[in-house]
Amino acid sequence: MDAFQILAKDHRAVEQIFEQIEKSDNRGAKHREQLFHKVRQELKLHTQIEEKVFYPELKRHDGTKKLVGEALLEHGEVEQMLQEIGRLSPEDDQWSEMVNELKLAVQHHVREEEDQMFPAARRELDQSRIDEIGRRIEEMKQNAGA
Ligand SMILES: [Fe+2]
Ligand SMILES: [Fe+2]
Repeated sequence: MDAFQILAKDHRAVEQIFEQIEKSDNRGAKHREQLFHKVRQELKLHTQIEEKVFYPELKRHDGTKKLVGEALLEHGEVEQMLQEIGRLSPEDDQWSEMVNELKLAVQHHVREEEDQMFPAARRELDQSRIDEIGRRIEEMKQNAGA
């Protein structure tokens, strides 16, 4: 399967979990905890896959290598936010604020990937390479039980 389609599908899945979190309220702390756990798992696996399989490929091409540094910084910021939220209780007022900040940070990163990085990568890589990366992504997902 085309690597970009798989990664974009992950992005949509994460957006959906954020929507579910927004619809939940702070009386359902347990439910919120579960949703946060889910979004954290999804983001963790997705960023690992990008860092192991996708970004290293981008570093090898002139038209994409400049984009990798900022993307990695943003992954780091997201990871930090996940850790901070993990230390809070969903009942804290701060929890919703932080989750909203996380959502915005993820949104910004996803837009850069889909609007700049993916189109640039499509120009640099041929379809067979894109499919090969897609196969490696699917393998990593299977190994992770996702
Ligand atoms: Fe990313
Ligand atoms: Fe991504």
